[in-house]
Amino acid sequence: MGDLILGIETSCDETAVAVVERATVVRSSVVSSQVELHAPFGGVVPEIAGRAHIRELVPVLADALAEAGVSGSDIEAVAATTGPGLAGSLLVGVSAAKALSLVWDVPFVAVNHLEAHLYASFLEEPDLDLPLVVLLVSGGHTMLVLMEDHGRYRLLGSTLDDAAGEAFDKVAALLGLPYPGGPSLARAAEEGDEHAVDFPRPLLGSPGLDFSYSGLKTAVAVEVERRGRLTPREVADIAASFQAAAVDVLVARARRALGDQGLLQLAVVGGVAANQRLRGALEQAGREEGFRVSFPPLALCTDNAAMIAAAGLRELSRGRRDGLDLNAFSRAPLQGGAVAGGS
Ligand code: KG4
Ligand code: ZN
Repeated sequence: MGDLILGIETSCDETAVAVVERATVVRSSVVSSQVELHAPFGGVVPEIAGRAHIRELVPVLADALAEAGVSGSDIEAVAATTGPGLAGSLLVGVSAAKALSLVWDVPFVAVNHLEAHLYASFLEEPDLDLPLVVLLVSGGHTMLVLMEDHGRYRLLGSTLDDAAGEAFDKVAALLGLPYPGGPSLARAAEEGDEHAVDFPRPLLGSPGLDFSYSGLKTAVAVEVERRGRLTPREVADIAASFQAAAVDVLVARARRALGDQGLLQLAVVGGVAANQRLRGALEQAGREEGFRVSFPPLALCTDNAAMIAAAGLRELSRGRRDGLDLNAFSRAPLQGGAVAGGS
């Protein structure tokens, strides 16, 4: 069931709609970013985000249908992110999905945003072997997850403080780099020497699989403070040195998780999976240690609706249907595939 599914994503600052066919063929994936609206504030303003989703959703929906070359009557199910995310933003996408499900008389299915990031991997490589270890690195989450089967997850480790993407964003702000910080820091780092400053690799020597970024972020703040006004060269060097430290920690933790589980397949997902330094370091570690590493294409690392549709199709095929009374949840852990509060 559900050969053509429409996915809707409005959990944060991207309004996205996609049409996906049979879990693997992306017919269209339209993303309208609110970056320019939030840039003056240096971060996402929930009230602005919610209002922008209301404005953008219908045009983005029209574009996604047109690009896929389909009309509403071709769509066989509608999936939307119900959490985690900003409540006011989530509600825009969830309400639209319910309305479309009612009008088109097709099933509605709720999708957990974290699980959807993970399904971005299966869009590119539907035959990925299970079980596998997932490194999910986004603006809001940093976690290592054992994916035992579709819909069966075990959390192996997560961040004790900031998420990896959040650390990139905050360090970029310290260096005076433009919002959003992750991509601009990565760009600045290309010109820098990553051995210029020996930043700490938090928790690297300690057992377990948790992450911590606040110490690294503080070390950058202290370095910036000590130097005073930074030259472009210094900005590049500090950016490169921070990026190397952040990547080292992610690579070491992912290696340890694979070793602990005796597995040789890693999937890396979420916005930070777009980072080229991280991609290169994990690929090299894979070659050295004989594990496979897969990344979604760049456009499917950051928030998009193709991953929502892909995760929704998987849920539908397992018989899941959600009622039109389903709410949105700002907190929604990845737990055995279930969305908190869902059916
Ligand atoms: O997955 P995502 O789009 O949204 C969340 O669900 O959080 O991730 C956004 C995060 C932001 O913190 C952004 O700075 C970071 O991913 N990011 C990057 C890169 N591209 C996006 N971080 C490092 N390098 C990049 N190239
Ligand atoms: Zn995300």
